Amino acid sequence: MQREFYYDALVIGSGAAGLTLALHLAETARVAVLSKRSLEAGATWKAQGGVAAVLTDNDSVDQHVSDTLTAGAGLCQEPAVRFTTKNGPAAIQWMIDQGVPFTRDSDGENYHLTREGGHSQRRIIHAADTTGQAIGNTLLENAKSHPSIDLIENHLAIDLITTNKLGISGNNRCIGAYALDIDNNSVNMFRAKSVVLATGGASKAYLYTSNEDSASGDGIAMGWRAGCRVANMEFNQFHPTCLYHPDARSFLISEAVRGEGGRLLLPDGSQFMHRFDEHGELAPRDIVARAIDHEMKRLGANCIYLDISHKPAAFIKDHFPGIYNRCKELGIDITQEPIPVVPASHYTCGGLLVNHQGRTDIDGLYAIGETSYTGLHGANRLASNSLLECLVYARSAASHIESQLDTPLLDIQVSAWDASKVTDSDEDVVISHNWDELRRFMWDYVGIVRTTKRLLRAKNRISLLQREINEFYSHHQISSDFIELRNLAQVSELIVESALSRRESRGLHYTRDYPEKLPAVADTILTPPL
Ligand code: FAD
Ligand code: SIN
Repeated sequence: MQREFYYDALVIGSGAAGLTLALHLAETARVAVLSKRSLEAGATWKAQGGVAAVLTDNDSVDQHVSDTLTAGAGLCQEPAVRFTTKNGPAAIQWMIDQGVPFTRDSDGENYHLTREGGHSQRRIIHAADTTGQAIGNTLLENAKSHPSIDLIENHLAIDLITTNKLGISGNNRCIGAYALDIDNNSVNMFRAKSVVLATGGASKAYLYTSNEDSASGDGIAMGWRAGCRVANMEFNQFHPTCLYHPDARSFLISEAVRGEGGRLLLPDGSQFMHRFDEHGELAPRDIVARAIDHEMKRLGANCIYLDISHKPAAFIKDHFPGIYNRCKELGIDITQEPIPVVPASHYTCGGLLVNHQGRTDIDGLYAIGETSYTGLHGANRLASNSLLECLVYARSAASHIESQLDTPLLDIQVSAWDASKVTDSDEDVVISHNWDELRRFMWDYVGIVRTTKRLLRAKNRISLLQREINEFYSHHQISSDFIELRNLAQVSELIVESALSRRESRGLHYTRDYPEKLPAVADTILTPPL
């Protein structure tokens, strides 16, 4: 049976972005936070390296801005970069005040700052190599003890409820969302004055990824279907170093390993990064991932190697306990031998277009964290700028939502989810087959190196899949796998469409048909059909 819930703010997603926003609002508003799986699902809990911010006198906002602009290959929006980096230190202080146990230096007085590719300074604050768990667990504990926050897991938002969809004229306004209660297999309605999409990225569109299954781009797809513009979806970031091992599903080997001296080696033991970039192993991520892809294809190798074994064993175990232990479980002693690694899909640089307050094109609808496009990352995200963006924009969106709390909840009759015409599906095999097919051709045709022919091939396949999906949608009862597949197909279409329209190679988008950068710089902005 369908239930209805009413809140001041509905936050869809319980990662760093969603929890930060909820905690900021909770003093003045009643907030619901939905997670489609457990509350700890999502990229936040997997983050290793840390959070980038200007935290010492040797460093400056100008230097952080400059490193971000360089990594972004000319496509970052400088005002967004300044806004984020300037507000970074206060966001970190807020996390410290929340109780996040960041690692201290050996003197115990200051926080230890590590280094990652593309950063000219040590400016990554971290909790050993499990920073995401430290942040996620702390914020979640604090949210659990707050009486104004309802944390609701196993609820998968399906679609937004907007005034346009209800046929009401005037500015389009978001007034809630339908969500599948997975445990009870029913669809509930959540009404709110403000709705926040904090659903993470879409890296699951690719066969090999550092992300969890949940990274299916739901927020981007829901926002697009509701009428929001998306930007720069062609810039999917591939992390250069994921563990290559048959029993290790999507396990990352942090860039901080290279930051602390790790070397990339070919199977014959030779270093190669200096042939691709003067910064060697600490070149921006797009360059390192492309260099590895190139060398693997040239040599027909299944992987390359990341070696930190020249450092003292105690240093390695102290700095990288999570990576050391996981590799040890799999029979690799990283204090003694190199780690086999491959690139994998890691981060969605594009997303729903928002302003500095996280506001989308629809009134009352916000997007924060990896779901959004703020202009910070340009054509390639600088390492550890993502958690920073989650925090800074969540805080800013919370202030705007707070300023709107006096607006009454719109008194509009909304019909319940109609499940009457559909039957139970006995075709689950079609869903899992389509999941695999989509992710495989996205990897093969829309990956690290692209061509127009491959992109067109992917486009055709996606439109066939979408026809099947739409047909299925109108006849069968929905399931979480099906909703995620529908969203993955939607974001894949946006990725391919954006990639086809960029007739140059820049940052993470490299196409053999247009290998040069164009002199004119422009975002790829797609507008949904009316
Ligand atoms: P997430 O943390 O992904 O959370 C998304 C939430 O939305 C989840 O609760 C999920 O259940 C929920 N959700 C999704 N769809 C729905 C739906 N339809 N209905 C209801 N709920 C939904 N960045 C850094 O800055 N530093 C790092 O060191 C770092 N390391 C990383 C390591 C790994 C292995 C990975 C994968 C990423 C890393 N990143 C890092 C990137 C960073 O972790 C993510 O970009 C960031 O955590 C995203 O946070 P988020 O709150 O936007 O989304
Ligand atoms: C890492 O630890 O390498 C991930 C950092 C990031 O994605 O920003």
